[in-house]
Amino acid sequence: MIDYADIIFGLAWGDEGKGKISNAISKNYDMVCRWNGGPNAGHTVYLGDKKYKTHIIPCGVFQNKLSVIGPNCVVNVDKFFDEINYLKYEGFDTSLIKVSEKAHIITQEHINYDLKVLKEKLGTTGQGIAPAYADKMLRVGKLAKDFIDKQYLWDGELKGKILCEGAQSFWLDINYGDYPYVTSSETLPYSACSLGFSPKKIRSIIGVAKIYDSKSGVDPLFPNSLLEDSALVKLIELGQEYGTTTKRKRLVNWLDLNRLISAVRKSGVTNLIINKCDTLEALNLFKIKVEYKNQPQLIEFDCLNSMKKYIFDHLSPYCEVIFSGNKSII
Ligand code: IMO
Ligand code: MG
Repeated sequence: MIDYADIIFGLAWGDEGKGKISNAISKNYDMVCRWNGGPNAGHTVYLGDKKYKTHIIPCGVFQNKLSVIGPNCVVNVDKFFDEINYLKYEGFDTSLIKVSEKAHIITQEHINYDLKVLKEKLGTTGQGIAPAYADKMLRVGKLAKDFIDKQYLWDGELKGKILCEGAQSFWLDINYGDYPYVTSSETLPYSACSLGFSPKKIRSIIGVAKIYDSKSGVDPLFPNSLLEDSALVKLIELGQEYGTTTKRKRLVNWLDLNRLISAVRKSGVTNLIINKCDTLEALNLFKIKVEYKNQPQLIEFDCLNSMKKYIFDHLSPYCEVIFSGNKSII
């Protein structure tokens, strides 16, 4: 029996700092579970000054919590064990890590196809994600139960207080994102129930955003002309906007407030956390993109506080709004 489930997910194009939030609150739960995606994700966690990176294993492991990879995930077996060995070496209890028997396996053929056909066209992470999900849908996929040692297989039981940890984000969702510039899984809270609980059990939906936008991979919404704006180029460096998985430079843009409001409303966010306020403060330029009479427009503020107030006024009717400007705590 579960008490309740809280859900953390991203409200933009990934890399909003979901890992930081998940690590910060994991201690309040019995289990931390990933419901979507695979090694395309890259979650960065700081414990004190030490930086850790994971791709498939949920952040619960950093807080000694049962960490589950759910049936809607795709797993690269070699990378999974590389991550287990890395965490073991760093002193974490890897016996807490479990994979659903029904998660699908990413094969070398999936990776080859992704690298040959999709990476250039769509700017994928090249991890074989789309081909693995395609085979799942064609019902020719391979299941984790046949490839992962029994000790790491999950018995399918959810118990106590559950934290569901999303990967990728709202605008990368296969149904709601800007298809085809999306990933191949469901990134919104509705999909967390694929872990095996009723929607009635959802207590809080924690949406993680960033005070500016960024995107790695091909997307007409993020044209290369953004690199002509020297302030945005500076923001890439100040925010260290380089892919955790691919090391690619991410393109950045001013926060699209209309999109953020729409993502918050459609996904039913109860608590919104807006990260990287310190990065924008270091840039000392405060702009927001809004839509006015169907035309995009930039609003400029004289300081971070007045920008925060504007965001707060537009979002507080829908959810609690928290601003964060620290890389390890909320
Ligand atoms: P986290 O969980 C940012 C992007 C890729 C590409 C598109 C499809 O760290 O926020 P895929 O390999 O999934 O088929 O690529 O999705 N993408 C991410 N961008 N953060 C991620 O994960 C991402 N996972 C996939 O850049 O545009
Ligand atoms: Mg990331």
